[in-house]
Amino acid sequence: MTMRNDIALIGLGVMGSNLALNIADHGYKIAVYNYTADLVEKFVKENPHPNAEAFTDLKAMVASLKRPRQIIIMVTAGKPVDAVIEALKPLLDKDDIVLDTGNSFYQDSMRRFAQLQPLGIVFAGVGVSGGAEGARHGPAIMVGGTHEAYQSIGPVLEAIAAKAADGKPCCAFMGEGGAGHYVKMVHNGIEYADMELIAESYLVLKRLGGFTNAELADIYERYQQGPLQSYLISITSKVLREKDPQGKGDLVDMIVDAAGQKGTGKWTCIDGFETGVALSMIDGACNARFISGKVAERTVRAQQAVPRTIKLGMDKTSLIAKVEHYLYVGKIAAYAQGFDLYRSASEKYDFKLNLAKIAEIFRAGCIIQARFLNDITAAFTAEPQLANLVDAPFFKARLADCLEDAREVCALAIGNAIPNPVMAAAISYLDALHSECVGANLIQGLRDYFGAHTFERKDAPGFIHHTWSCKASFNAV
Ligand code: 6PG
Repeated sequence: MTMRNDIALIGLGVMGSNLALNIADHGYKIAVYNYTADLVEKFVKENPHPNAEAFTDLKAMVASLKRPRQIIIMVTAGKPVDAVIEALKPLLDKDDIVLDTGNSFYQDSMRRFAQLQPLGIVFAGVGVSGGAEGARHGPAIMVGGTHEAYQSIGPVLEAIAAKAADGKPCCAFMGEGGAGHYVKMVHNGIEYADMELIAESYLVLKRLGGFTNAELADIYERYQQGPLQSYLISITSKVLREKDPQGKGDLVDMIVDAAGQKGTGKWTCIDGFETGVALSMIDGACNARFISGKVAERTVRAQQAVPRTIKLGMDKTSLIAKVEHYLYVGKIAAYAQGFDLYRSASEKYDFKLNLAKIAEIFRAGCIIQARFLNDITAAFTAEPQLANLVDAPFFKARLADCLEDAREVCALAIGNAIPNPVMAAAISYLDALHSECVGANLIQGLRDYFGAHTFERKDAPGFIHHTWSCKASFNAV
């Protein structure tokens, strides 16, 4: 048995098959394996490739690999990953590298990294974004594990990754252990906020502007020509233009108004709470999806509500222009929050994240790829220690240009009873960041009043408890 294959991939679902074919297309000899033989047969039948060798026997597959071995696991996140690792362990040797490219929880990746370390095996949690298309033709790849392991695995990953407009691969070593999956998790959190912002802008344009789906598609196409240019804006037009295959008009109008989720957005929010970083927009996006699920309840209440007359107070052309600014402001706030979490988590978990590099590899291949990421890359390259994106001169100037329009659209939405929770959260977040007083002095007074929780005085160091002179009856109501 010769050691003839450069790399292996376990898990021949759609993502795994596409990733394997992408690797094979780049001239690497790849061994592919799946726990159930049906997917191996399907792969061989549908995708015969001179560089891909299929196996139904794990041991034979491992034996076909050059050393040190490089094995990619692309199976459902959670227990299946542990099961594959357990099956592989007796077959592996020191210096072999196991890469998990699924949407695994970063703490699982940290645990698996620590578990394989004593055996001299490197476990690299690898975030891959771009869906099935990205996996096949060039995803964005966020690599964890060790710097040394990246030296050997980096070339194949960089070869298969998307390339940004300047030719740079959208793949990089993010940091030790679980850093790759951490970066992917927050990417998804930002993706939630980005999509909710688009949904809110759609609702505002539709309800306030009264635009048809075809007109809305044209509006997003126009946005796509400007600073909002991104994959998500481009597919928004495509979704709005799609006709119902059953002939019942536009497909978007036939889709149930309830968004699903698999959990990465929720993980980001939980991590934000645990790290103490405000992620109001990602939290808001999750909450909006929860509320969206209550379709029947919402419908009954809406039918019982007193009908309202829409009050726009501006021409439709101005509305389109102002909504573009509204979306841009929301985008700045969403990325400010996401990158604030990267900064804090980097210290907390010792990931040593490079924020400019993260923005750089998000420029192509991933779901949140956008022109705007060039500006974020530039901001963190110029000032790696930037406290918050809103302090970068470029974004300060853009906020100065766009914030008043965003306020106006947000107020119009609220005045017309159109929900826009994430956009409202964006504006409140930006206002709080720029306010000397946010009212927390009163919160401290209340906490000390009812619970002797103490507070700090402006004119002296240390925490004190005050004996409040006015006593209220506890049963005040
Ligand atoms: C990506 C996507 C991908 C997936 C999300 C969807 O980067 O390729 O983020 O990971 O589309 O997990 O997440 P929800 O189902 O939770 O919306």
